[in-house]
Amino acid sequence: MPFYPEHVREHFLNPRNVGEISGAEAVGNAGSFVCGALLRFTLQVDSATQRIADAKFKATGCGYLIASASLTTELIRGMKMGEAAALNEDEIMRELGCVPPYKSHCVALCREALHAAAVNYRQTTLEEWTGEEALICTCFGVSESRIETIIQSNSLRTVEQVTRACHAGAGCGSCQPLIQDILDDYWRTKDARV
Ligand code: FES
Repeated sequence: MPFYPEHVREHFLNPRNVGEISGAEAVGNAGSFVCGALLRFTLQVDSATQRIADAKFKATGCGYLIASASLTTELIRGMKMGEAAALNEDEIMRELGCVPPYKSHCVALCREALHAAAVNYRQTTLEEWTGEEALICTCFGVSESRIETIIQSNSLRTVEQVTRACHAGAGCGSCQPLIQDILDDYWRTKDARV
């Protein structure tokens, strides 16, 4: 099958981690309007370490999609959810070795499905969260009080600064409006006291 580059062919013919994890903590789906391909990741997340302990995929699509998804499940094992959500297409393409531009949407589908899984993980985690502190960023397990402390001790003004300081917001990004609210509250209260 000379049609595919070697590493792509190897993952296509021997895909890793095919299937679905029952009771997965995170599920992410994505579909392509370009070619009609579908992809689904199911992820098991270790609650103690907040790291991805297992990842499986199901896909209907071409060899590039199968190879990208197979490789992605290997890459994200051991990552925090936020690291997986932030995995970019260039990293996947680099690992695959060679992806023609007209197939880059296959790799983009992996990134979109990971992002969807991180958002799904956030929703389920927040619903089940029983900790005393409000959890803001589920991708990196950052609480509200930690963000407040970091803002206060470093006089941070923007979400980007908070993200650089503690990673909160660097994954799926769905917590960024909450980080902005915490910043607004902090500075409104502080300015009112002056
Ligand atoms: S919840 Fe995903 S980046 Fe914070």
